[in-house]
Amino acid sequence: MKIIAHRGASGLAPENTLKAIDQALISEACAIEIDVYRSGDSLMVIHDRWLHRRTNGTGQIKSTSVQQLQALDAGEGERIPTLEQVMERINGRCDLNIELKGPDTLMLAHAAIDYACRHYNFSHDQFLLSSFNHQLLNESYRLRPELKIGALTSCLPLDLAYFAQQLNAYSVNCDVDFLNQAMVDDAHQRGLKVFVYTVDEEEDIELLSQWGVDGIFSNFPCQARKKARSK
Ligand code: G3P
Ligand code: CA
Repeated sequence: MKIIAHRGASGLAPENTLKAIDQALISEACAIEIDVYRSGDSLMVIHDRWLHRRTNGTGQIKSTSVQQLQALDAGEGERIPTLEQVMERINGRCDLNIELKGPDTLMLAHAAIDYACRHYNFSHDQFLLSSFNHQLLNESYRLRPELKIGALTSCLPLDLAYFAQQLNAYSVNCDVDFLNQAMVDDAHQRGLKVFVYTVDEEEDIELLSQWGVDGIFSNFPCQARKKARSK
C-alpha cells in the first residue's frame, strides 16, 4: 500500500508549503499530493479558493497577483509556492499528484508537467492529475491520454467505480468515510487503482490494507508507513 503525503506532510508543517514538501521527502513518501488554483499564468499550490483560512490575506486567489500571493504568510513564515517551485523542490525524487481545484488549471498543469520532465528529473508517469471536476479529467484524457488521471469522489456512487472507468482513469480516489470492500473489488475488476483519503488512524490503515487498497493519503506519512508495515 502506497503512502501519499496529503498536501505535503501537512500534519508536520503548514499544508501545501515547501516546508510540508520537505517533510514529505524526509518521510520517504511514495508520492506527494498538492492542490492547485490559478492566478494569472501561474498555478499556486493552495487548497482553498479564498485566502483567509490558510494565509494572513483576504480575497480570492484568482483576483490576487502572484507577487501579492507570495508576499503572504501561509503559516510559520512559509509562502504559497507555485507549482513550478514544488516541482523544482521535489526534483523527481517521488511521484506528484496534482489535484486540479480551479476549472482553468488544466492547460497550465499539462505545460508544467512537460517543463518538469525537461528540467526537474521527472518522467511523465510520475504524475497523477486528479480532480472532483470530472469534465476537466475528461478533457485531460482527450488532450493528453498518456497522463494518468485520478477520479476523485466524495460520496459512494451508485455505479461504484463505473464512472471512473468511463473517464479512462488510472485510479478512483475515494473518501475513507464512504469506501467499502465491494467498491474496492469492483474498481480492481475494472482495472483501476484505489487511493483513499484522508487516512491517519491505525484502525483505518489496517482495514484498508485488508481490503487491498493501493494507496492512502496521509497527513503523517512517516507514521502511516510504520503503522502499515506493522500490520
Ligand atoms: O486528493 C485527496 C484529497 O486531498 C481530496 O480532498 O479536500 O483534501 O483536497 P481535499
Ligand atoms: Ca487535495
